[in-house]
Amino acid sequence: MEQAMTTGANAGAYREKYRPQYHFTPPTMWMNDPNGMVYFEGEYHLFYQHHPDGMTWGPMHWGHAVSRDLVHWEHLPIALAPDGNGAIFSGSAVVDWTDSCGLLGGRPGLVALFTHADHYPGSTRPRQRQSLAYSTDRGRTWTMYAGNPVLSDERFTDFRDPKVIWYEPGAYWVMVLAAGDRVRLYTSGDLKAWTFASEFGADEGSHDGVWECPDLIELPVEGSAGQRKWALLVSIGDHPELADGSKTQYFVGSFDGLAFVNEASAERVLWLDHGRDNYAGVTWADAPRDGGRKVAVGWMSNWKYANQTPTSTWRSAMTLPRELSLRETPEGLRLVQRPISELQGLRQAGREVLLRDAAVEPGENLLAGVCGDVYELVCELEPGTAAEIGFKLRTSAEEETVIGYRAAEQTLIVDRRRSGESSFHDGFACRHELRVPLRKGRLRLQLFVDQSSVELFVHDGEIVLTDQIFPDPASTGLALYAEGGEGRAVELQLYPLKSMYALVGV
Ligand code: FRU
Repeated sequence: MEQAMTTGANAGAYREKYRPQYHFTPPTMWMNDPNGMVYFEGEYHLFYQHHPDGMTWGPMHWGHAVSRDLVHWEHLPIALAPDGNGAIFSGSAVVDWTDSCGLLGGRPGLVALFTHADHYPGSTRPRQRQSLAYSTDRGRTWTMYAGNPVLSDERFTDFRDPKVIWYEPGAYWVMVLAAGDRVRLYTSGDLKAWTFASEFGADEGSHDGVWECPDLIELPVEGSAGQRKWALLVSIGDHPELADGSKTQYFVGSFDGLAFVNEASAERVLWLDHGRDNYAGVTWADAPRDGGRKVAVGWMSNWKYANQTPTSTWRSAMTLPRELSLRETPEGLRLVQRPISELQGLRQAGREVLLRDAAVEPGENLLAGVCGDVYELVCELEPGTAAEIGFKLRTSAEEETVIGYRAAEQTLIVDRRRSGESSFHDGFACRHELRVPLRKGRLRLQLFVDQSSVELFVHDGEIVLTDQIFPDPASTGLALYAEGGEGRAVELQLYPLKSMYALVGV
């Protein structure tokens, strides 16, 4: 069963070493947070923090791309560039259907709210103020509002990343904004004049670092008869003394149009992702308008080492788009992330590898004949008598990334210590271990491997681990292993994935 799963000959563009084949990357140069995500007239817009003149963070612009399926992207010219009010930090965009801002000539159009970053005159103290830009041509060109900035407050130095949502019951706009290590909420009828509504977070959740990039989202509770709750996502900046770097927490509760209330205990910290590389994630506004699904994307890096990752012509990728929902668990309501169904279109028809009810024995590898670098793997494992069962991927004699489960301790392990190039930062080569109880004696995994990442969705999206890896292109081995006893692959489907570039002819 010799089966090659490389993405095939697509020589030239976007084939550099480590270049992801189905994750969004900037064409060249530096990228960080996703920004301004909005769905309008059949297009998903993705803007991003971009330094077009350098491979490290620098004067921030908004890069821009559009997609009809959230999988294949068309790069567009830079949308917003620094001006007299400063650089363009993170923010959001909305469809202003009624031209509430009065800048769109009476027709629906796009309005972006973002942070203008500069310094207080004659001082080295950073100044962060919220500004507005608008577009009447489907986001192709943008005009800065002449009255910028629209929201400032000298009491706060870290005061940024406005995420604006339309609050339907009250028919007004709500902005959630990071301010120091909490968030502040504002309301507006016209996107230009903002009134303070409430503050959240002083004694809630983790305060390991500065709070950034919040998002406030109403989500369905799975399996309920139409029950909905609100989730507040908050990213937390890198803390030099903490190994895990920048990360994202979330709260679940209620929102009455003015204030968010956390309905779990204030001390309980809920992490969005248990890997190292998912930061600043927020959701698409208006996406899609009919179904109302909420799709998030994060920046697949970590401020701990983001400026040093070993890529050549571009730096950083986004996570896969994930549809969010809430699930009632024995511990309470938890955020669930599922890769969007559009990704199934990347599966290479007729090239899948299937196993059913297969014994996994020590010293044997049922996937020995399979090699690959870009694929999706869906499976249900039963540890049985094995002390440890799992996968070793992107392997060679020197390299491997391990996804393992230890039944006695009920722990899941993702180990990238030998995953490939890691010398660029001391903290990169690491191993995560977390407690994950089996469901009916089984572990359900969905795994996405790309040229420089591994994304693991456990128990249908209830637990997620996102990690960059930088394996040698020749490290394409794959093993299903068991140690100390015999386990079982109840079922396993492995799909080589097409490159997103194969279809757009670049
Ligand atoms: C998060 C962040 C934001 C800020 C942007 C600057 O990664 O620090 O808070 O707006 O990046 O690029």
